[in-house]
Amino acid sequence: MSRSAHPAGPRHADVYPEGHYTAPAADLNVLDEKVWARTVRRNADGVVTVGGREVSRLAEEFGTPAYFLDESDFRARCRAWADAFGPDADVFYAGKAFLSRAVVRWLKEEGLNLDVCSGGELTTALDAGMPAERIAFHGNNKSVEEIERAVRVGVGRIVLDSFQEIVRVAHIAQSQGKRQRVQIRVTVGVEAHTHEFIATAHEDQKFGIALADGQAAEAVRRALRLDGLELIGIHSHIGSQIFDMAGFEVSARRVVQLLTEVRDEHGVELPEIDLGGGLGIAYTSEDDPREPHEIAKALTEIVGRECEAAGLSTPRISVEPGRAIVGPTAFTLYEVGTIKPLEGLRTYVSVDGGMSDNIRTALYDAEYSVALVSRTSDAEPMLVRVVGKHCESGDIVVRDAFLPADLAPGDLIAVPATGAYCRSMASNYNHSLRPPVVAVNDGEARVIVRRETEEDLLRLDVG
Ligand code: LLP
Repeated sequence: MSRSAHPAGPRHADVYPEGHYTAPAADLNVLDEKVWARTVRRNADGVVTVGGREVSRLAEEFGTPAYFLDESDFRARCRAWADAFGPDADVFYAGKAFLSRAVVRWLKEEGLNLDVCSGGELTTALDAGMPAERIAFHGNNKSVEEIERAVRVGVGRIVLDSFQEIVRVAHIAQSQGKRQRVQIRVTVGVEAHTHEFIATAHEDQKFGIALADGQAAEAVRRALRLDGLELIGIHSHIGSQIFDMAGFEVSARRVVQLLTEVRDEHGVELPEIDLGGGLGIAYTSEDDPREPHEIAKALTEIVGRECEAAGLSTPRISVEPGRAIVGPTAFTLYEVGTIKPLEGLRTYVSVDGGMSDNIRTALYDAEYSVALVSRTSDAEPMLVRVVGKHCESGDIVVRDAFLPADLAPGDLIAVPATGAYCRSMASNYNHSLRPPVVAVNDGEARVIVRRETEEDLLRLDVG
């Protein structure tokens, strides 16, 4: 994909992403359950419902744009992950995908742990009552203040990301008279993308310590020497939105290889390994994600087999899914404002949100689906580009999709699978107000993150 400047001619954007599906679905009124939260249905009046609530009523009550999150689906996905890995493993939800105090309480109730990567996420977790020992603290440049607080409150583990951090955390722990449980994040030379992975000798990236050139082995050597640290294991995270299991398997194999080297050199068997997050979800009908039990089976088998071959006792495995838990559970509801047909090209449909509530399309060329949800329609499909209300032409929510040709201003449309990395990456661009997150469950809808107001904007602007 080219990101170079281009003249803004009429056809400049008229290119389908490679492998993009170009045919409309047979019936645009049918909601593909693969991309929608589990309780989403279309009722007898043709109105879409979630948790038994009609989107038209939800729009009246909470306004648009807004994210609607299916709480029972979220909880069911937590349970599916916990059940898939069983009692001898730990599931850490990656809070960066979407975090709020309600979410923390659901995680706690469903028996999940939590991965945080900033002081703000830590505050949210602790405020909502997540026990500190169930929290893992991540980040490639944690501040001294963040580390001091994490150690003080007693987080279950800090994932060390660099040589500097090994010393920094050890020093802080020691000065508090503590021994901090830590893992070392290694880069295993695997970079995974949606349908493929690349194995490289060195990973050209900011995270972690490379396995290559004995660097990770050296990090282990240093960590084992420091009194302030209790080294409990090795961590690896290979990427995000991954469908191909092979990358996880190579990663698991390489991490076990390091455990073997550590045992041989130090006579120490590190008791845990964390294989990170990254499992992909369906954004469109073309995507075919793996289920948690498939990934659990594959990882457990490979780790078990490799450890047996090396004569190691099997370590406790943990994983950190974010997107795969929250992503599919929410959709963004928008009202159509203007419609601009370009003969022979496409129709631009402008909604009342945009890149401020979903930056993923602009940032990653992400693909999304969209449906008319306030009514059904028998009109012909028209090729649309759903765009926002921001002051730039890259403000695209759904690049290419089909909506019925009788679409009109005032219709409600919804973009599914926006639970992960949409509200958490939302911005105030153009001084827009970040939308609320509304949890819907069993006929009840309640705001869990309220809509920003103009007062919120002015409160930060001290004049
Ligand atoms: N663990 C670690 C150490 C991570 O860095 C991440 C994500 C996860 C777990 C969770 O990965 P997940 O299961 O959600 O794929 N903003 C990007 C995704 C960035 C992922 C960053 N790290 C996006 O919108 O696609």
